[in-house]
Amino acid sequence: MAITAQQLIQWKQQGRAIVALTAWDYAIAQLMDAAGVDLILVGDSMAVVLGYKTTLPVTLEEMLHHAKAVGRAVKQALVVVDLPFLSYQESISQAMHSAGLVLKETGAQAVKLEGGYPAMVETIARLVQAGIPVMGHVGLTPQSVHQLGLKQQGKTEDSAERIFNEAMALEQAGVFSIVLEHIPADLAMEISKKLTIPTIGIGAGVHCDGQVLVTSDVLGLTEKHPPFAKVYTNMREAITKAVKDYISEVRDRRFP
Ligand code: KIV
Ligand code: NA
Repeated sequence: MAITAQQLIQWKQQGRAIVALTAWDYAIAQLMDAAGVDLILVGDSMAVVLGYKTTLPVTLEEMLHHAKAVGRAVKQALVVVDLPFLSYQESISQAMHSAGLVLKETGAQAVKLEGGYPAMVETIARLVQAGIPVMGHVGLTPQSVHQLGLKQQGKTEDSAERIFNEAMALEQAGVFSIVLEHIPADLAMEISKKLTIPTIGIGAGVHCDGQVLVTSDVLGLTEKHPPFAKVYTNMREAITKAVKDYISEVRDRRFP
């Protein structure tokens, strides 16, 4: 049976850690799903495989294109798609339209929107009322990179309190889960304890209800990765070696 948003909430109650990863294409999504990942996020971090320096240039069309590929692959995991920059901030109606297209066209079950400020909480409440499952995202929100940079958030008492209140407001608005990105572990623990819905941490310590990482970091596909990422395998090396072996075999006429 495919994993639902309700299932994630139950797992939090049972203390079972939720495992999430990003995917941007059919092949990777299929492997992850078969390996047993609970939640697959078609993140706008896909910017890295499109050659963008930030997530800001990613368009809704690009998200839909990749989300469709992921949707065709996944049988078990809950699929969540990021709404990219400027596809939901303008108005509730813009957010409804963008989120609606994701659900209509991709086979994904939910969308993720960044921010917990009052206007965004209102937008999210309206999406939820319309039957669209929404995941929240607070702390470091990469679509605000030009305002926040990429540094840890919630370090001062004021900013910690703001992030805490945003998480509470998002739960009230009806999100089924919240990503906590790059905030102190004790703040993430406080938020996770207080909320009924599960928190999914990235650079937010071990006390979140689940963890997410960007797959290009996990697989060692990119040159740089954030300090909180863990590189589980070095695909850059593996791919370079395979390609070089192929080049020399063709040059030497050892292949075919
Ligand atoms: O785009 C993404 O990969 C994300 C995760 C870092 C949560 O939003
Ligand atoms: Na994202």
